[in-house]
Amino acid sequence: MTLTSATFRCVAWSLPEGTWAEMFSEFRPRAFAGMMAVAMGLTPALVHADDLLRKGPWLMDLRATSLVVMAERAVSGPLRVVAVPLGAAMDSGGEPAVHASSLPAEVSVTDAAVCRLHEVRLEGLSPGTRYRYVVAGPGVLPTGGVFTMPPNTDVPFRFVVYGDTRSERVTHRAIIEAASREGADFAVHTGDLVADGRSERAWQDFFSIEEPLLRNTPLVPVIGNHEIVHPLSSGTSNFQRYIHVDPTGPTPELDYTFRFANARFVLANAYDDWTGPARTWLSNELSRARWEAPDAWLFVVMHWGPRSSGPHGDNYLFHDAGIDQLLKQYRVDLVISGHDHEYERGDDGGLRYVVSGGGGAGLYRRMHPHASSRVFASEHHYVRIDVERDKLTLSAMRLDGTELDHAILRHTGWDDTPGRPCHDSARPRLTSAGGDARWSDAALGLSRMASGVLVAATALLALFRLRRLAR
Ligand SMILES: [Fe+2]
Repeated sequence: MTLTSATFRCVAWSLPEGTWAEMFSEFRPRAFAGMMAVAMGLTPALVHADDLLRKGPWLMDLRATSLVVMAERAVSGPLRVVAVPLGAAMDSGGEPAVHASSLPAEVSVTDAAVCRLHEVRLEGLSPGTRYRYVVAGPGVLPTGGVFTMPPNTDVPFRFVVYGDTRSERVTHRAIIEAASREGADFAVHTGDLVADGRSERAWQDFFSIEEPLLRNTPLVPVIGNHEIVHPLSSGTSNFQRYIHVDPTGPTPELDYTFRFANARFVLANAYDDWTGPARTWLSNELSRARWEAPDAWLFVVMHWGPRSSGPHGDNYLFHDAGIDQLLKQYRVDLVISGHDHEYERGDDGGLRYVVSGGGGAGLYRRMHPHASSRVFASEHHYVRIDVERDKLTLSAMRLDGTELDHAILRHTGWDDTPGRPCHDSARPRLTSAGGDARWSDAALGLSRMASGVLVAATALLALFRLRRLAR
């Protein structure tokens, strides 16, 4: 038995004993719902009446021995989460190996009467162990999934990367369906989860589409400009509401670190002021990562990365603050970003990067070609990354299951032959393009509109002069 405690943000209660084997060996929603109803003093009919789960469940803040399960109910009420190790639910005598009496008795309750969004932290989980979990409550049909805790050792693991999922539901859904079949230990989202972070409807769409992946795969995201919209909007607070990660960074939920096996991820808000505390934090985290494990994998993730051949180009905030040099100084193995709706992979003098922004939004074309770029493609995709002790295998996957790119990364760099010609996608589908807009692509739209007006005015002026000459 490894589940020693659980903290419930809203409310929790004790389950009756002797029902775990049935619940986990063969998942029976109605039986479980009835059990939950009895435990809560409700009638089973009420439990079966409706499914009041509005969003989720989704998994967040994966740490060495704990994990947060999140879910949002349609109306306020309690929510229960139970997790047991897979394959250990029953002992040799047919009795449940995970017994109710060994579950934590102490829980943390906020306000069940007004709470819809639940963050339930499961603590005391065993490293390297795969768990099944179930979420239930009054009016909520039991549902759940599986997750794997980070191993203590440097055993191989897999994660998927995707981003800029906003705007196009069909493509977004196809990306999620494909990525959910990869069996990844967690999913890195490079930002712009939604088209407008202020819109509750956009968030609802996001969680509805992502549900098949996120119920089984912890989400490791960074904020994008479409969540922020502008610094004073409600977009950032909505992101912070639905995203729960290690809160020790300069801005809670926006700047954080994450460790899995022999890899450290530093995830940052690309729109921070990189001359202030954010720069100090980043420098300290990179230094700490290298001090703790000099030969471990070190990844940095942010929405707008230091290199991109797409219309947004390089992150000038990073460049102006000298962050590029910081990344090289601490031998960051790979910088992962999005923002430009493309796939790109390169190495600029030791600054190795991947841009993965092809998760659903309209594709961009190459507008600022980098000599350091090895592969560029305007195609929807996700990236699968298999991490081993001394090498990393990257596969960028198209929606039809074919490989867009395949590469091996070692601590010394990509295995590609240096100077290999840059591959470009043969059939780019271009629907829009960005610019150096810091907060929103709307700025580029205005810029283009202004250009159009200028061209039209010039043409009218020329026509007017021609008519005068003709008189
Ligand atoms: Fe963006």
